Amino acid sequence: MSAASSRFILICSGKGGVGKTTLTANLGIALARQGARTAVLDADFGLRNLDLLLGLENRIVYTAQEVLAGSCRLEQALVKHKQEPNLALLPAGNPRMLEWLTPEDMERIAALLGEAHDYVLIDAPAGIEGGFRNAMAAAREAIIVTTPEVSAVRDADRVIGLLNSENVKPIQLVLNRVRPRMMANQDMLSVDDVTDILALPLLGLVLEDEQVIVSTNRGEPLTLNSSQSPAARAYTNVARRLLGEEVPLIDPSKERQGLRARIGRLMNTKIF
Ligand SMILES: Nc1ncnc2c1ncn2[C@@H]1O[C@H](COP(=O)(O)OP(=O)(O)O)[C@@H](O)[C@H]1O
Ligand SMILES: [Mg+2]
Repeated sequence: MSAASSRFILICSGKGGVGKTTLTANLGIALARQGARTAVLDADFGLRNLDLLLGLENRIVYTAQEVLAGSCRLEQALVKHKQEPNLALLPAGNPRMLEWLTPEDMERIAALLGEAHDYVLIDAPAGIEGGFRNAMAAAREAIIVTTPEVSAVRDADRVIGLLNSENVKPIQLVLNRVRPRMMANQDMLSVDDVTDILALPLLGLVLEDEQVIVSTNRGEPLTLNSSQSPAARAYTNVARRLLGEEVPLIDPSKERQGLRARIGRLMNTKIF
């Protein structure tokens, strides 16, 4: 596979803490499990934590920094996932890299990663400053992650403007931490509200799911162990859609948790 046919996807949001790194880790594993050679690049040099989410923090020897300085080869810095060898992480270097890193450096790293990988996922930092612009330079397309909160959607909108101005496309949307009950009660923006405001195609809907937090703390992405939790299924479906499969989106109004909703569903299916 040459870099020409590899996909370089920026995972970004504007606002911090909306689930970019979680998506990058889970999507990376899910793509790799489907047979795609996948590299994840931690471009959040200030707050690197993709290594932690993947459980790879103890296996880092070199980072993007040494690769750029020419003091090691890319293969030496890449950390292969033991359980999922199709996935490799290129760790972020020291936060002081931010002082000298340029968009051209990031382009160079991405081109190197593209030589041996079908997918290069770039975990962007929050914000729209230099760190984000560097990360954007490594990408050709983007996935915007947002939660259904007004502030997150507004920040996403700013990021979309920047991506458009740099001709990064397509841009697709993953709506994260969806709470069906709050949406139904109109205590949260609806899926349609968010897609209307941002005018982006929806690539995935991820429910609020406490298993995400458990897996984050363990350093084992949910998609690693065929977990059937709602978020695990959502991340796997995002991977399948990226790979070109048509997978229907869930309907949050049918995902209301709790006894009443479950009984309601059973009644709909005429079991009662
Ligand atoms: N769908 C979800 N359900 C529950 N918690 C989530 C979900 N997605 C992300 N989180 C939690 O939100 C926090 C921030 O996620 P993270 O991926 O680090 O965000 P970012 O990279 O955008 O800053 C983490 O504690 C993570 O476990
Ligand atoms: Mg992050």
